[in-house]
Amino acid sequence: MERLMRDPRYDILFEPVQIGPVKTKNRFYVVPHAISMGMSSMDEMVAYRKTRAEGGWGVVCIEETMIHETSDHAPLPDPCLYNDKHIEPISRIVAAVKEHGALAGVELAHAGASGPAAYYREHPLSPTAKFPHYFYNPISARTIDKQDIADFRRWYRDAAVRAKTAGFDIIYVYCAHNLSLLQDFLDTKTNKRTDEYGGVFENRVRLLRETLCDVKDAVGDSCAVAVRFAVEDRRRVSNITAQEDGRRVVEALADVPDLWDVNVSDWPWDSGSSRFFEEGQQEPFIDFVKKVTNKPVVGVGRFTSPDAMVSQIKRGILDLIGAARPSIADPFLPNKINEGRHDDIRECIGCNACTAEVMTSVRIRCTQNPSAGEEHLMGWHPENVPPADDPDKNILVVGGGPAGLEAAHTLAKRGYQVSIADAGSEWGGRLVRERKMPRLSTWGRVVDYRVGQLQTMVNVNMYLDSMLTAEDVAGFEADHVIVASGATWRGDGVGRNHDEPIPGHELPHVFNPENILDGKLPSGDVIVYDEDYFYMATVVAERLARAGCKVTYVTTASDPAPWTLNTLEMVHVINSMNEIGIEIVVGTSIVSISEGKVVTSRLLTGAEQVRPADAVVLVTGQVSDDNLYHELVKKREAGEIASLERVGDCLGPGQIAQATRDGRKAGMQFGGLAR
Ligand SMILES: Cc1cc2nc3c(=O)[nH]c(=O)nc-3n(C[C@H](O)[C@H](O)[C@H](O)COP(=O)(O)O)c2cc1C
Ligand code: SF4
Repeated sequence: MERLMRDPRYDILFEPVQIGPVKTKNRFYVVPHAISMGMSSMDEMVAYRKTRAEGGWGVVCIEETMIHETSDHAPLPDPCLYNDKHIEPISRIVAAVKEHGALAGVELAHAGASGPAAYYREHPLSPTAKFPHYFYNPISARTIDKQDIADFRRWYRDAAVRAKTAGFDIIYVYCAHNLSLLQDFLDTKTNKRTDEYGGVFENRVRLLRETLCDVKDAVGDSCAVAVRFAVEDRRRVSNITAQEDGRRVVEALADVPDLWDVNVSDWPWDSGSSRFFEEGQQEPFIDFVKKVTNKPVVGVGRFTSPDAMVSQIKRGILDLIGAARPSIADPFLPNKINEGRHDDIRECIGCNACTAEVMTSVRIRCTQNPSAGEEHLMGWHPENVPPADDPDKNILVVGGGPAGLEAAHTLAKRGYQVSIADAGSEWGGRLVRERKMPRLSTWGRVVDYRVGQLQTMVNVNMYLDSMLTAEDVAGFEADHVIVASGATWRGDGVGRNHDEPIPGHELPHVFNPENILDGKLPSGDVIVYDEDYFYMATVVAERLARAGCKVTYVTTASDPAPWTLNTLEMVHVINSMNEIGIEIVVGTSIVSISEGKVVTSRLLTGAEQVRPADAVVLVTGQVSDDNLYHELVKKREAGEIASLERVGDCLGPGQIAQATRDGRKAGMQFGGLAR
């Protein structure tokens, strides 16, 4: 095979960068990101980080690593360097990263009032006593006194020395996301002290300066000392903005750290989803930093385009291209750019299924890259697959949505003869229509990447407009059949709160997402009813509001689209619904529907209310399209089909990340592999 060459336009991305006493091999930088595995899952942590180093990143950092027992985000299993016994396990990650020529970084953190310190049952610390941010734990963080400050500085130094002993090249002081004691000191909202650590700016920045200097003294001879600093709090939890105190911090400490890793707070803005944020969205906030410091600057922005990366460097915005999600979705992104394989880049779709796992304290996953988080547990690799046991075996995949495409791609890469058929005239299954809904276009990358790959493979046949019957499938005489026929939104209102159909659901003015996805829209006053709890109801509501309907969004949940808290989108969903004028009614169920009105009931009180409605859209759940599968089961029992399975929404409707994971699993397990 002809070896592809790097496009010279991207040479600049492969230049080394000096960071204090260490030098990177290129400008690709995996910024700290939690993978929710924890110290007890060290093999998984090692495998995850090692894979990113193998894929060509010049720096691979591990996530927030707690320096002391007064700081944790339990039940999220953060790594820690509280004491010397943590050095050896963590050093295994470092060794695995360095094996591939990358520098290893660690983000040393103390969560202050944002970590309830629940695991070790200590009292959380704060510049001034207050309840923890984000957590409902019944404990107030206590005011840190002078002795505590001395202890805190010692904990940081000691943890830095442990990090150096573990072999890290870059050691962070963490001051971002409104998840850091040091950030709370900077902020006039959380720091009400009257001593030399409170009041005027010079006092509020004192502890950050002291900590950076302490860490430099302790490890700066051989390790680079970085600060991760959020220059702007876009949620306005704190008073830090890029115009004022954010900028003043960078000016005051300009050349103290060896590296500035700059971003915005808090997390839903930093890891902003593609529904609400474009690639490179942080630039207007962080672009001043390089003008203020002589030290290298790394920043983030869901960068997947090499042209966008080059532009950041050439325009003097960044020295290093930071990435969390692009490195989750494609650990081999740098190598692919280096080898001129741009079409092979598996671009992050910005769906934040990854953050949802971390928010729920489950090991990381990725919609685009089903091997993320499975490197050790399942032994999956993002690029390499085991060879076919017999390349003459042919497999038929019925259904060209995320699950079917992923199964077909995995099997084809393994070397089997693969045929994939879909009844529709476009590839993508559910995404054919969903990607056309408001704000979801980037999700189409799930389809585009896989179809692009399959179309280049000689052992793949692809058939659109092919509605297969059970007889057709049996006549194909495949060695294995994978049914990925998807699911359909139900129209009867059965969902999380309704076990029986909602009375009136059969009336002509009652719609479901299938109708909206098909472009059949109601008009007038519309109630969109959500028992699905993820994105579809709010997307439908926006679609209808933009089409001129007066929309009321009603849900049984206590918050709108509650799963979007985990994808970091809830705040943006609410803001956008408010902006478009959608009324939000929570904690409320639909009791019945009749012409021109619905009866709703408050879940807490049972109080009923009659609401006028020209139309109702029920977004309450989906049912698998599994008729073909069940017919094929009979054919398998009759010996007419050799082997059969179903994947994705056909097996059980869920998020796209589950579908691609199912597809990968089917592709990996065929041929007798245990996994
Ligand atoms: C799953 C996940 C976990 C994260 N955990 C951390 C963390 O532990 N520490 C941190 O400073 N930032 C964390 N972040 C934020 C990222 O480092 C990064 O700033 C943000 O995702 C924007 O970069 P991106 O657009 O390249 O993803 C996390 C992001 C993701 C997606
Ligand atoms: S889960 Fe979604 S947002 Fe996260 S890395 Fe994967 S594709 Fe990107």
